[in-house]
Amino acid sequence: MRTLVHISDLHIGRDEAVEASARRLVAMLVEARVDAVLLTGDVTHRGLASELRRYERIFAPLLEQGRLLAVPGNHDRMGDDAARGIMRGGRVAVDSLPGLHVVRVDSTAPHNRSLVDGHGELSSRDVADVELALDDAPPGAIPLVMLHHHVLPLPVEDLAEKLATLIGLPCADELPLGQDLLGRIAGRCRLVLHGHRHVPAEFRVALPHGAGMRILNAGSTTLLGRARMFAHTSGEVAWEGWLAADRVEPKAWAPAARRPPRVAPAAA
Ligand SMILES: [Fe+2]
Repeated sequence: MRTLVHISDLHIGRDEAVEASARRLVAMLVEARVDAVLLTGDVTHRGLASELRRYERIFAPLLEQGRLLAVPGNHDRMGDDAARGIMRGGRVAVDSLPGLHVVRVDSTAPHNRSLVDGHGELSSRDVADVELALDDAPPGAIPLVMLHHHVLPLPVEDLAEKLATLIGLPCADELPLGQDLLGRIAGRCRLVLHGHRHVPAEFRVALPHGAGMRILNAGSTTLLGRARMFAHTSGEVAWEGWLAADRVEPKAWAPAARRPPRVAPAAA
């Protein structure tokens, strides 16, 4: 049995409370001996190099062991363009972690220089590259896609987003080719993990034959103080729950799921 935790929107550099939350999060992930941590962007708050260095220091126990994969978010493109230090070598990348075939997608763009220009970008070429990348998934591994921006419409979360939408700015919109992407990868991808919006959300794509696909928004992990955790084996999710400050809260159980392993309380 392997474990996976999805985190997002850390916003390191926003304030001391966020960094304290990030340190508690890392202690929790280390204590739980999580095999894979997937971080879907907005690692930093203003895209500053100094914020990226702070993130690298806080998450060093996971980064040094190769247990953490990340994609950039729109906030990472501001300031010093910290995004360049988060994902290199193109907009679509493939990585393997225990029991996972991970397709990372950079959904940011050069226009992400301010908060009113926070919307994502996904080209037809990106969609085709994701499709190709999923073709290489080995048997027994869960094929998944991770990116920052949301692929389906989500409710606005604050007054600024509401006003921006009212005056026709695209900053709160889903990715323009988000639904195209889902149509192309359904049947070959089991999980689509994203962030950007700070309230968790979930959609399911049911398929008449074979496994469906879930689209999951982690929300802002440092604000929430909890993260979705999955245990998986042989390419199937066996159980899932929320890894919180001192416990796992089971959320949904597969019919033949085993009981989750005990997760020791994180250090105070
Ligand atoms: Fe964010």
